[in-house]
Amino acid sequence: MGTRRDFIKNSALGGTLLGSTLSLSTSSARPQAQRVNKNAAANKPVVIATWKNERAVAAAWNVLSKGGSALDAVETGVKVPEGDPHDTSVGYGGRPDRDGMVTLDSCIMDHDSNCGAVAFLQHIKHPVSVARKVMTDTPHVMMVGDGALKFALDQGFKKEDLLTEESRAHWLKWLETAEYKPVINIENHDTIGMLTLDSSGKLSGACTTSGMAYKMNGRVGDSPIIGAGLFVDGDIGAATATGMGEAVIKVAGSHLVVELMRQGLDPNEACQAAVERVIAKEPKYKEIQVGFIALNIHGEYGGYCIQPGFNYALYENNGPGLIDAGHALK
Ligand code: GLY
Repeated sequence: MGTRRDFIKNSALGGTLLGSTLSLSTSSARPQAQRVNKNAAANKPVVIATWKNERAVAAAWNVLSKGGSALDAVETGVKVPEGDPHDTSVGYGGRPDRDGMVTLDSCIMDHDSNCGAVAFLQHIKHPVSVARKVMTDTPHVMMVGDGALKFALDQGFKKEDLLTEESRAHWLKWLETAEYKPVINIENHDTIGMLTLDSSGKLSGACTTSGMAYKMNGRVGDSPIIGAGLFVDGDIGAATATGMGEAVIKVAGSHLVVELMRQGLDPNEACQAAVERVIAKEPKYKEIQVGFIALNIHGEYGGYCIQPGFNYALYENNGPGLIDAGHALK
């Protein structure tokens, strides 16, 4: 069972090993994959989330610890930063695009591969809840833009202005130079991706963001894309991503992490291998951040990223925690 202490140890080891792997320019230098112990007693319930989202995991834990479902917990959890005007990368108060519009991307997926997503959605404070409605109340997986907004309003969601005064002022300041480039670890926070395992052993995940600050109008990142920003396989585990969405999409990142766990890697190793894949495919990897976190059906968890500075929040029976993920670059 991956305890926090074991994981921190593994992260440090993983960082060293990755360095050797890169210098040899071959993935064959990877140590033998540690097989997931199929007989291990599950560590459940448990919730993890990208970045310092401690309030979000506490809200999810509140659902899980009362016997609530992984799906309810993950929606409840990510709604915390979505509704927080001081969180500048998710939901209400999220940084706008270069035209001053707050456009939101979000998805949700359950243990049985049911999933829903919205992209380029404006004026709705909780896009994850619209994504869940797409999953439960339509025959579709993804809705975007005006169609998604109309669907949300038909479902009873309220139309709101999501551009706060603080965000508007920041955008006007940005317009003075209008420099268009990704910012690594922007304000030490980006997308929230959350993964939950409930007391009955079921997994769920959600990923939600306002995307890259000052992106081109119409740009959609990895977060609402099932397989890129989020993937859940109830037989194996779940993974979610944060950072530069374009790089995550190119390797179908979260699906890759889950498939690596299917091959026997533990969550920490799977995230590390997926980051290595990003690095291999992305010539400018030194200029971007990408991080993955993963949770398997036994309640083991892990995470890995390109740049130092990425951490993830945790809540399990041992209590809350905040873990620095291993990283490829020193
Ligand atoms: N990972 C969030 C985005 O690229 O939009």
